[in-house]
Parts: sequence; structure tokens; C-alpha cells
Amino acid sequence: MAFKIGLLGYGTVGTGTAEIILDPTGRNNLLQDIEIARVGVRSFDKPRLPELPPGVLTTDLEAIVTDPEIEIVVELLGGLEPSRSLILKAIDHGKHIVTANKAVIARHGEEIYNAANKAGVYVLLEAAVGGGIPVIKPLKQSLGVNRIQTVIGIINGTTNYILTQMTQEGADFSEVLAEAQKLGYAEADPTADVDGYDAADKIAILAAIAFNGRIKREDIPCEGIRQINATDISYADDLGFVIKLLAIAKANSNNDSLQIRVHPTLVSKDHPLANVNGVYNAILVEGDPLGQVMLFGPGAGKGATASAVVSDIVNIVGILQASNIKEKLDPLLRCSHEHFKQLTPIADINSRFYARFLCHDVSGVIGHLGTSFANHNVSLESVVQIGFRNDLAEIVVVTHDVQEGNFHQALEEIKSLESIDSIPSILRVL
Ligand code: HSE
Repeated sequence: MAFKIGLLGYGTVGTGTAEIILDPTGRNNLLQDIEIARVGVRSFDKPRLPELPPGVLTTDLEAIVTDPEIEIVVELLGGLEPSRSLILKAIDHGKHIVTANKAVIARHGEEIYNAANKAGVYVLLEAAVGGGIPVIKPLKQSLGVNRIQTVIGIINGTTNYILTQMTQEGADFSEVLAEAQKLGYAEADPTADVDGYDAADKIAILAAIAFNGRIKREDIPCEGIRQINATDISYADDLGFVIKLLAIAKANSNNDSLQIRVHPTLVSKDHPLANVNGVYNAILVEGDPLGQVMLFGPGAGKGATASAVVSDIVNIVGILQASNIKEKLDPLLRCSHEHFKQLTPIADINSRFYARFLCHDVSGVIGHLGTSFANHNVSLESVVQIGFRNDLAEIVVVTHDVQEGNFHQALEEIKSLESIDSIPSILRVL
């Protein structure tokens, strides 16, 4: 039996979500049990891919949240209204909710979760923080038995991109922001990102889960990155730091209250968060007894965010299936396979290789190597004659991705060349 879902919004994340659900091969088996029944858009003026069967697209968003056949409503509109009202109406009609909307949850979470608890439905939001990085479920479940002390995140990709560019190029904020807007990394109105509001919404959500209590979003002090300049970045660099926009939530020693804030921060270059660059996000969680764990990955983007959205949909489908009398175990927790996967023989695997040769210093030796590799379809990325070891010339080659079997056949041929003394090392390259 298929579980019917309704999407509110068919923009970047909505179409990414449909792409995953409509192409289930090789992904979680539960995807095959999901049917995109309705998709709500504000207007029909844009062409949208993947194309949906006739009648699925509608501009009547209310009809989706009240449709008796739809079990899960996936809210991907963003912004506060009409998202808040539609989510509340969907809950009122007994739908489970999946959302990527950090602003609506950070600001109206109390109302939404009270309604959901009363209605007995889930509101899942893995995509709201950290894009594709699994962080909500790990915090709730895998890390949940720890007493969390701190959650520190680089959780806004736009500002991390801007600060990274400023650090690497020595450029000023306004210059890099303009460039980021041109490349589509920053919004035309960058306020929510550069003034830290987006990061504050996200840390409010993370802190509520990590510290098991609601957070008043308006109480979070929040400073953005507009005032950061090339001079400070350069001094910070001399002192062994990089500047990052951090969202920090810490338990006070009484464990009763928290510190939460968002601000640009000098981070020692040897700290794990210092090397999180560009649009990447990372969340460092420290808890007792586990110690530190860092979750790192793409913090935004179509595929990454859709991956988190669909993982929530699948989680709810798993629970719904388990409550079905035929299923005794939650399919997400039980072992869901009984067959063996076929493994590719190593000779058929493609890899890049590094190989070091010791050769007699005769003319044409590099040509001989090149010919032998070419005879076996091994394409070279670089060839470097490093120098001499005793009386032998030392040559290093790095290949492109090649079939392992072909590479070894080429080596066999090379070993028989008179100009080759030996091949002291062969390594794979990632
Ligand atoms: N504007 C957000 C960012 C996108 O830059 O991280 C994902 O929430």
C-alpha cells in the first residue's frame, strides 16, 4: 500500500525531493511505498521538473492540507506565512508534517508542537538545520543519552562562504557579498544570513533538542558579519586564528540554564571547526560521557536538503508501516535485507594510482613508460622525474581513474623493459 504525501512548494528543495522519491532504485526500500499525491505551488507560470502526472500540481494549498487521503504534508514554502497556518491546519486534519522551515519552527515551534502533540502527529525537521547533515535525529537518538554540554555550529553556509573568501582572497565584506550574490550563493536580500538571524533560528532548534527544553528565539543575542574586514582577518591569521560565524549553545554548570548566542568568533587554526570552509556546515557536540563529535557536510543545496527531507518522510512511513498489523517491527530498525550483494572483482575496480619507478638513466625511458601504459588503456595524470637515487633515475607517475587489471598488466610490461630497474612503490590515490 502506498503512503500518500502532499508537497507544499515545488521549488529547489521540492523538485529535489521529488527526484529522490521518483527514482528509488538503490535507495531505501521504503521509498517505493511513497506516492506524491498532490504538489502545491503558488502559480503554474514556471516549468517544473521532474514532471508530475496530470492533476498532481495545484495552486490550492488548503486542499492539500485537508485532503483525507494524504498522510504526510511536506512544507517547503519557507517563510512564516502561509507556512505556519498551513502546518497548523494540516496538523488539525491529522497529517504528519515534514518541514525544512527553520524560521517557522524557531518562532512558532511552541504553537506547532502543542498542536502536534494534541493531534498525535509528528513534526520532523531534519532539513531545517545543516542542510543534508544528519543532526536532528542524531541529537535526539544516537547522542540522546549523553548529558550535552555544548553545541557549537557553523550553520550558515552563506556567511561561511563569505568569510572563507575574505580569508583566502584578503577581500572586504561588501566585495565578497556582491560576488556571492552574483554567483547565487547569497540571496538578493542577504539580511537573514549575514546578520545571523538564520543561524539564530537554527541554534534555537538545536538547543531545544540537545538540552530538552523550548527556547525563546527572541532571547538569543545575535551579531552578524557585516563589520568583519580584511584587516582583522589578517591579524587573526598572524595570531593563528580564523574568523567564523559561530552559533553557540552551552549548558551552565547548574545544568538548569543555557547560554545561546550567534557571533563572529576567532577560532584557533587547530580547532576542528577552523577548517570548515566555503558553504559547508559543521556542528560540534560535546556531551558526557561521549566527549566531542563533529557532524560535517553540505549545509544547503537542492540534493543535500532534499536528502534530509526525504529521510524524515521515510522515518514517518516506517513508523506508519510498523503500526500496520502485518508489520511487527519498524522497517527502519529491523534488518531489512536477506540477500547478498554482488561484489566487483578488484581487477574491474577503477582507481587512481601512484607508482614510483627506478630506471636506468637512458634516453627515452619516460617514452617507454608512456607507451606501455597507453598499450593497456592507462591514462596518466602526471609524470614527474624526481631525481636520482644512487645511479638510478626516480620517476613518479599518477594515473587518472583506470581499471585496476589494466594498470597491473601495464606494470607487468614495464617490468620487462630493459630501462626499468624496479618499482619500489604502488599506491592508490583517492
Ligand atoms: N541560507 C541558508 C545558508 C540556507 O546560507 O546556510 C540553508 O538554510
